Amino acid sequence: MPQLRYFTAGESHGPCLIGILEGLPAGLVLSVEKINQDLWRRQQGYGRGGRMKIESDTVEILAGIRRGETIGSPLALLVRNKDHKIDVLPPVTKPRPGHADLTGVLKYNRQDARDILERASARETTMRVAIGAVCKQLLAELGIELVGHVVALGPVRAQTEAMTLQQIRERSETSPVRCADAQAEQEMIEAIDRAKSEGDTLGGVFEVMATGVPVGLGSHVHWDRKLDANIARALMSVQAIKGVEVGLGFEAARRNGSQVHDEILPAEEGGMVRRTHNHAGGFEGGMTNGQPVVVRAAMKPLSTLMKPMRSVDLQTGEEVRGAVERSDVCAVPAAAVIGEAVVAIELAAAVLDKFGGDSLAELKRNFAAYVESCRRW
Ligand SMILES: Cc1cc2nc3c(=O)[nH]c(=O)nc-3n(C[C@H](O)[C@H](O)[C@H](O)COP(=O)(O)O)c2cc1C
Repeated sequence: MPQLRYFTAGESHGPCLIGILEGLPAGLVLSVEKINQDLWRRQQGYGRGGRMKIESDTVEILAGIRRGETIGSPLALLVRNKDHKIDVLPPVTKPRPGHADLTGVLKYNRQDARDILERASARETTMRVAIGAVCKQLLAELGIELVGHVVALGPVRAQTEAMTLQQIRERSETSPVRCADAQAEQEMIEAIDRAKSEGDTLGGVFEVMATGVPVGLGSHVHWDRKLDANIARALMSVQAIKGVEVGLGFEAARRNGSQVHDEILPAEEGGMVRRTHNHAGGFEGGMTNGQPVVVRAAMKPLSTLMKPMRSVDLQTGEEVRGAVERSDVCAVPAAAVIGEAVVAIELAAAVLDKFGGDSLAELKRNFAAYVESCRRW
């Protein structure tokens, strides 16, 4: 069983969202401010709907810490919903093509698709972002940093290949579409405006990078411990994500092997062996290879359209137009923050599986000794 596990509960308009994160070492000083900062980042982004103005999420830590420090017991997190009204919301009987509405009511034998969409909604990711923010604080203790940013939105592609991680972080953080390329940013905003005026929605692609990741997280031995696969699963589990790439991803399939693989060069004094590129996105054999982790996820356009598509009324069986709920036009910038969080959770889980440790001091000792032992290369 993995050392780090978590559960989330809560509906979009229920009283609150709840998370339990189990397996953290004792002695991690947790900043609630940093968790709230990530919750805020998740709520930003050009193209979001009205709810983002109501929410302004803040976390409460109910268990697992004493005087701001973890004590090894399960961490219990709570975020209150400011528009708690689940019991008085009208029923939804016109399932939206592309949402969980129709399949959910059939599977769970419900008459009202609201019973489905309340949990299918990406509001659920609020808690995953809070848990991810905790994991990011653990990873930061080991020098592992993450950034999530938008590389494509609708038809617009960003050019960020020549930028350093620092530049990407700084520029995307202040961008309304979380994009580091200023030219593309403007075109993305225009594309969102166009989609909005047409009653339509837009998807896109975000990238998550992690630096400071040691060689050897994950496994080439056990299929269910392959870390690239676990990260792909975590990203695919985010609402509306329909594809994941690691490193070159699908582009690798179009190239010859000599144009894909990262050659191995001798180490420089005191360092690790070097690589010519990072086309592998930091993974070989299901394990991190010491290069930065680079993964991308494709998000489909959101399914609640202001000009709804055809559907069938659950009560009458007649053709209607899909339900119109308060909705985003585009949520790719927010998805990049969620992607950052779920990748952080998987990295933290892999770190704890490899290095163990009931206390942060023990974890750090194990980590440092291992990193040192790898330097012989
Ligand atoms: C950050 C974020 C915000 C979202 N906002 C909306 C929205 O406002 N309207 C909508 O129809 N879908 C939205 N979605 C997508 C739906 O939650 C998702 O399409 C639905 O749950 C069905 O799941 P699937 O697309 O993974 O199959 C959002 C997804 C994310 C990640």
